[in-house]
Amino acid sequence: MAGRIPQHFIDELIARTDIVEVIGQRVPLKKKGREYAACCPFHSEKTPSFYVSPAKQFYHCFGCGAHGTAIGFLMEYDNLEFVEAVEELARMAGVEVPREQASDRGGAARSAPEHDLQPLRDLMQAAASFYQEQLRHSPQAVEYLRQRGLSGEIARDYGLGHAPDDWDALLQHLQAPEEQLVQAGLAIRNERGRVYDRFRNRIMFPIRNRRGQVIGFGGRVLGDGEPKYLNSPETPLFHKGRELYGLYEARQFNRRLDRLLVVEGYMDVIALAQHGIRNAVATLGTATTPEHLQVLFRTVSQLVFCFDGDRAGREAAWKALAVTLPFMQDGFEVGFLFLPEGEDPDSLVRAEGQAAFERRLDQATGISEYLIAELTRRHNVHTQAGRTHLATDAMALIGPMPRGLLRTALVEEVARLTHLRPEQLEGGQGTRIAAVDRRQQLRITPVRLALHALLHEPALADDDMPTDWLHTLDRPGIDLLLELIETIRREPHISPAVLLERYRGTEAGRHLQRIAAWQPPGFEGAAVARMYQDAMDTLRRQHEEQRLEALLHKADTEGLSEAEKRELRGLLERR
Ligand code: CTP
Ligand code: MN
Repeated sequence: MAGRIPQHFIDELIARTDIVEVIGQRVPLKKKGREYAACCPFHSEKTPSFYVSPAKQFYHCFGCGAHGTAIGFLMEYDNLEFVEAVEELARMAGVEVPREQASDRGGAARSAPEHDLQPLRDLMQAAASFYQEQLRHSPQAVEYLRQRGLSGEIARDYGLGHAPDDWDALLQHLQAPEEQLVQAGLAIRNERGRVYDRFRNRIMFPIRNRRGQVIGFGGRVLGDGEPKYLNSPETPLFHKGRELYGLYEARQFNRRLDRLLVVEGYMDVIALAQHGIRNAVATLGTATTPEHLQVLFRTVSQLVFCFDGDRAGREAAWKALAVTLPFMQDGFEVGFLFLPEGEDPDSLVRAEGQAAFERRLDQATGISEYLIAELTRRHNVHTQAGRTHLATDAMALIGPMPRGLLRTALVEEVARLTHLRPEQLEGGQGTRIAAVDRRQQLRITPVRLALHALLHEPALADDDMPTDWLHTLDRPGIDLLLELIETIRREPHISPAVLLERYRGTEAGRHLQRIAAWQPPGFEGAAVARMYQDAMDTLRRQHEEQRLEALLHKADTEGLSEAEKRELRGLLERR
């Protein structure tokens, strides 16, 4: 496995990348003064509050607080890992990503996100091609798919394949190092150290990421047998809780995607596609996660969840509701469709066809109606205790919702049901910040203002103000501020993006990211140069106060040296 990507390469890559080009290829940007604006791709809005700054090489959304560099944008928007984002920028710049020798960094070279994922990706693609090819040689597998109503065209669109009934067919075919095959989840090593194919005599469903790369597989037995499905394990490429089966295909088939259907199974996605409903995705045998929701709402603003009509289906729906509410900005629509007992989307669409199924989708229960109906089903609104429980349950779900009309309407409805006032309901909630609203409510301190100013305009630190006093000032974050100032003085032309990327993956980096994205209230549109000056003046005054107190204390206790006496006199005069 290759080693780390050298920091100097990342510095240079960011310095030569134009964030306007990277984002412009994905989001239509309009020039607005010295910056570029668009409707934010990370939340739904009608007027643009998303800005891209060529000077800072940053993007920033004043609506939801999304903020970052070109690397950060690719990670968020294309759902890429850090290394993949770097590879993508390198590809655009037409350069190779260099790797440090594994020995350069000792243990660090083994940290997972730094690995080069390309060999694994190639292996997965080769395996998918092999399974697809094998399907042609397995009349039994072809017959199974045919009998489930699938055409050759759909099998091709979804890249369906067949894993031969053999312990090492794939191993023999790929001829790759055993270690790699095991890491890719394609092979298993048993206790005796023998390596064999994970998938044998199964229908193979390749799972593709947003870019169409095969990152995992689901394998179904032909007919009855246990386990019915076998899936790829978690690998460096494949993270179950984040991927949605069929999303890549849905985006391929639809030039415009307005709505996505969330179903449970591989076969549901494929049967719906077979019947002309080409916008279904499935979670991979897990419950819906916030990561799923993030990906879904980045793609469309309308979702319909399909659930079985049985008890398990109702439980799953209630869980999905709780995960979805924090994402419910005004403008998003979410429906819940409960299927007749014993049916799944596959059986139903085959039984009644496309039109009837689409009618059901249009009649799905809206998220608010579902929430209120379920709350009143669970609690008795005719007793005081029932109403109290309802209020508690309701606010636990509504509390994390972003502010907006939907939230207000729900609080009012719950107030009406529980005979309480909306303020009483909201009272216990504190000020929760919704998951999608990333605007940071940081307390204003001079250190944070100075950091914020430098992250937006590093050149501000390139003055000849002495900084020795900063070394003895006792304030949280002062070391980081000093470090930033020193870095900038060493490299006066460093861009905000390069500066921020140096800290990626560290605690300090998370802190700086928050501060860069922060919109200090009361400073809207303020000149950062002024902000920096004022913050540094305040810090210097604070330093003088601290020194004064320390010297006065020392004078009282152990006495002062001559130098300290001079310093004290100076400080007192300046007051
Ligand atoms: N699943 C799984 N492992 C299992 C059973 C199910 O990972 N042993 C996951 C699969 O992603 C599957 C989904 O849960 O697609 C739903 O399960 P189920 O409804 O049983 O499967 P279907 O997709 O409907 O498959 P089929 O119609 O072929 O039974
Ligand atoms: Mn099924």
